[in-house]
Amino acid sequence: MVKTTIAVIGGTGSMGRGLVMRLASAGKRVVIGSRKREKAERIARDLRALTGGEIHGATNLEAARGAEIIVLSVPFGGVRGILDQIRPALKEGKILVSVVVALKKKNGKITYVPPEAGSSSEEILRLVPKGVRVVSAFQTTSAEKMRSLGKPIKCDIPVCGDDEEAKRKVIELLEEIPGARGVDCGPLANSRLVEPIVALLVELTRRYRVPGVGLKFEGLPERD
Ligand SMILES: NC(=O)c1ccc[n+]([C@@H]2O[C@H](COP(=O)([O-])OP(=O)(O)OC[C@H]3O[C@@H](n4cnc5c(N)ncnc54)[C@H](OP(=O)(O)O)[C@@H]3O)[C@@H](O)[C@H]2O)c1
Repeated sequence: MVKTTIAVIGGTGSMGRGLVMRLASAGKRVVIGSRKREKAERIARDLRALTGGEIHGATNLEAARGAEIIVLSVPFGGVRGILDQIRPALKEGKILVSVVVALKKKNGKITYVPPEAGSSSEEILRLVPKGVRVVSAFQTTSAEKMRSLGKPIKCDIPVCGDDEEAKRKVIELLEEIPGARGVDCGPLANSRLVEPIVALLVELTRRYRVPGVGLKFEGLPERD
């Protein structure tokens, strides 16, 4: 069977490494994208040794070119520049998953800074070529928990997007991570309801000194 290839742009970072580890462990072929190829290759080697999965390193553009699904895991301030870099790979129909949240550290405190378009995901939609299917997911999932490979992550993951097929594919993908349940939260515009919660989760994580506070929705239909 041909493996799905997933590019994680910013896969060298805190959240990116967690995504790479979990997706490779789920049997996907994962390509780490970085602004520096050597950095991506080095981290790919490390994560291959940790997971035994198929992980490669490349520049952001090379990673995005070969992937069916591109995950964007960079700080909000870097989004515009990175999208410019990978633009030749952003063909019609491509799925672009944004995990981006616009957070800022001010006086030692993490605050949420609402993007002009309403949310980071909607901002990204404005910046990509028409026909790219932007899906918002993973913002409320702790990077530390993602990197704790032996442990199920035990949380719900809100997923927002305007393309039903793309959203379904992303939910199927994330549910291959042990303990993750994808929750269809409607159109991409609803990401503006999800992203600000992250500042609260960061505050709770700090206050309760735990590896990461996530979300669990009560009252949704049980699944087999
Ligand atoms: N950390 C979490 O728990 C968490 C959870 C959910 C969502 N998020 C969101 O996920 C995104 C990534 O978070 P993170 O904690 O992984 O961030 P990070 O470690 O600070 O950065 C991720 C990667 O992005 C690239 N990068 C950094 N600054 C950049 C810039 N100015 N322009 C372009 N690329 C840049 C770097 O890769 P190269 O140097 O290799 O290019 C870096 O390794 C953020 O939007 C964050 O809000 C984070």
